[in-house]
Amino acid sequence: MSLPLVVATRQLPSNAWKYLTAYAQVVCWESDCPVTQEWLLKHISGAEGLYCLLTDRIDQDVLRIAKRLRVISTMSVGYDHIDIPACNARSIPVGHTPDILTETTADLTFALLMAGARRVVEGVEYVRQGHWVEWKPDLLLGQDIFGATLGIVGFGRTGQAVARRAQGFNMKVLAVRSPRQDHESLESSVAVEWKQEASDMSPVTFVDLPTALTQSDFVSLHVPLTSQTHHLIGESEFHMMKRSSILINTARGAVVDPAALYHALQQGTIGGAALDVTEPEPLPASHPLLSLQNCLVIPHLGSASTATRSRMADMAVENVIAGLRGEPLPHCINPEVYYS
Ligand code: DGY
Repeated sequence: MSLPLVVATRQLPSNAWKYLTAYAQVVCWESDCPVTQEWLLKHISGAEGLYCLLTDRIDQDVLRIAKRLRVISTMSVGYDHIDIPACNARSIPVGHTPDILTETTADLTFALLMAGARRVVEGVEYVRQGHWVEWKPDLLLGQDIFGATLGIVGFGRTGQAVARRAQGFNMKVLAVRSPRQDHESLESSVAVEWKQEASDMSPVTFVDLPTALTQSDFVSLHVPLTSQTHHLIGESEFHMMKRSSILINTARGAVVDPAALYHALQQGTIGGAALDVTEPEPLPASHPLLSLQNCLVIPHLGSASTATRSRMADMAVENVIAGLRGEPLPHCINPEVYYS
C-alpha cells in the first residue's frame, strides 16, 4: 500500500523527519527561505497532509488546488497565516503547537524588557565602536525593572508566564485579559501557581486596556492577531502611555500600528520599544524604525531555543500523523470540524 503524500514547507529536524517518513511520503521544500507560493501550489495538489510554518500563507488559492488535503499542521502556536474558515468549510482539521513554547517565549519577552530598560544593545554597540574610554556616572542611564509596573495585554499562557517572571523582580502586574477569560478562574489559577513558589507575592490586578497603558512602566503584548487585535496599539494608545514607558511585543507585529509607533518613539510620546515581531515581517534594514536608538528589533526569535523548536517540530508531526490516520489531532485549532 502506498504511503499518503505530505508536503512540508521546510526541512524537519532529524527525529521529526524519521517519525513523519515512517507514515508518509514527504515532498519537502529544500531551501532555507520561506516556500514560494508557486512551489506550494505546484506540489500541494496530490497531498493529503501539509506541514507548514508561520511564514506560509495557507489561503483559498492553496485550498482550492489541494483537493485531497485531509490535515494541515503548522509548526507554530499562532495560526493567523491560515484561513481557518476556509479549512472549516472543507472540514480540514488544523493542528498547531501550543504550550511547549510558552516558557521559552516568556524568557525572550523578559530578555527584551530588560535589554530595553537597561539599554543593553546600545551598551554593546558603544563598546564595539571604541567609545568606552572612561567610566561616566551618567552613561547610558536606563530604567529600573525591580518594583516597576508591568502591563500585560493578553493574559493567556505566555502572558501568565511573563507575569510569573515579573514576580521575581517584585513588579506590580496589571493584566488585561481577553473578553473570553473568566476573572475568577484566572485569578485563582495564577494565585495557586504562585503560592507554590513563595508566600508573599502580590497578586495580579486585572484592569482594562486604558488603565494598563496609563499606569504601566512596561507594556508587553500577548494577544493573538485577529481582526479585533489588528493595530490594537495605535496613536491614541501611545498617547495614553507614560512618556518613559517601554513597549514589548513578542506576539504578532500587526498588533501594533508601525507608523504610529515610529512617531511615538521619534517624538518621545513613549520611551522605547523592544520588538521580536514587526509589521512588515521581516523588517527591511531601511525601515524607519531601525533608525531610532530607542527601538530594539530582533528577528522573531520568541520560541527559538534548540529544545523548544525541536519539540514544536515533533508536535507538528504528531498532528499530521493523527490527521492522516483519521484520528482527532492532539492539538487542534478547529475541533468543530469533527462535529460538523
Ligand atoms: C508561534 O509559534 O506562533 C511563535 O510566534 C513562534 O515564535
